[in-house]
Order: sequence, then C-alpha cells, then structure tokens
Amino acid sequence: MTARRKLIAGNWKMNGLKAQLGEVSAIAALASERTDIDVGLFLPATLIAAAAPLAGAMLIGGQDCHAQDSGAFTGNVSAAMLTEAGAGGTLVGHSERRQYQHESSADVAAKAAKAHEHGLSVVLCIGETLETREQGDDIAHGFVADQLIASLPEGADPSWLTIAYEPVWAIGTGKVATPSQIAAMHAALRVALVKALGDGPGNAMRILYGGSVSGDNAADVLHADNVDGALVGGASLSAAKFGPIIAAA
Ligand code: PGA
Repeated sequence: MTARRKLIAGNWKMNGLKAQLGEVSAIAALASERTDIDVGLFLPATLIAAAAPLAGAMLIGGQDCHAQDSGAFTGNVSAAMLTEAGAGGTLVGHSERRQYQHESSADVAAKAAKAHEHGLSVVLCIGETLETREQGDDIAHGFVADQLIASLPEGADPSWLTIAYEPVWAIGTGKVATPSQIAAMHAALRVALVKALGDGPGNAMRILYGGSVSGDNAADVLHADNVDGALVGGASLSAAKFGPIIAAA
C-alpha cells in the first residue's frame, strides 16, 4: 500500500476578520507540533497576507481562484494574487461554489490548472447531493467518480493535487457519512484515479473526507480505509475545536 501523508485542512468559508488572526496563530502552534502530518487553513482572500507570516510550516490557502491570469472579471481573485499574498495553495470546486456560482467541472479543472501554473497546491472538491445519494450507493459512486474525472486538470499529479470528497448532504448539517459509506466512496474514487492516472500517481493521490467533521467523529472518519485526511468547515474556526481533529490524525 502506498503510504500517504495525512492532510488536515480547515475551510473558513466567508468567516474571519483580523480579530480572528489569533486563532490562526494558535492553530499554527498546534500544527508545528505535528511533523508527521500536513495542516492547512483555507482562508478568506482578505486575511491571507496577514495570516501567512503567522503560519510557520502550516499551509495557508485561498478558497477559489479564477481560470484566467487577469482581466475584466470584477470581484474575482487570480492565482497570481493568491501567491503574491502569501498563499501556498487553494481550494477549487467546493460544492458551495458549484451551487451558488454555477461552476462546472470543466471550470474547476481550468482553475486547478491555473493555480498549479502559479505554484499553488490544490485541493479539488467533489461530492453528491442528497437527491443523488438517495438513488442508491452505486449511482452515488458513479456520479462522484464521473465528477472527479471531469474536474481533473491536465497534468494532475499527487505532488500538488489533493482530492476532497464532501457529500453535499453532510456539509454544515451535522450529518456525517458513516465510515463504511466514506470507505466505499473513497475506494470507488481510488479505482477511478488509478484508471485515469496510472498505478503510481493514482495510488499516491490523497483523498480527504469533508462534511461535519468534528472532534467527536474525527478518529472514526480518519481511520476509514483510503481516508488521507479531512477538510473541515465549522470546526476549523477555532484552535479549541480544530485541535482535537488535528490530534486525531
Ligand atoms: P463543515 O464544512 O465541516 O462545516 O460541514 C465542510 C466543508 O464545506 O468543507
């Protein structure tokens, strides 16, 4: 089995003002005690420049970037802007962006490629809605595997790309997928990655789980087969809540 280094990542979404930079420092201090795993925080773009000098070895990332280098795209943030602000990575394809900004998998693939071109590592998010899950596990596995392949950027490689499986019905709802549901989905995604990228890169690419991960369920989630870390929303906003998840890895 390929040994994959775990990544515990927080996604602050549209939360966080300068007053919360103390939490970034406190989480960075917890991260610095763990040389055996990676820890990251995906912050609002406005906080990155202030947070980066506090982060130590912890990854600081943005939550999205545009697929073009620059231009007339009011309100968007480019990959070069994230890099210049001090980010080392970015999320792409989060379900909230797919839903509210109508991003397609082709858009997500283009964003991931652009982020990599500017030296950012990328966490690419995928996941099914409740409606799809209710059609049965096989349908859900097929849907998410297809979404993964359609979202994979050209040159996808585990040295800079990580996948995050986040069932939409588990995000912010307190409903966590069961360890067996997670393991079954991650196994299906592993098969799809090996088929698309070949044995080496397909097995080396990390697959995180996200959706209502907390200190209470992190150990169960992280010990499921093929789970290489977690992407955490609500419970990443403070060191007090995020610390137990880092400790469980
Ligand atoms: P949640 O969010 O942990 O608050 O469910 C996870 C995510 O959207 O990345």
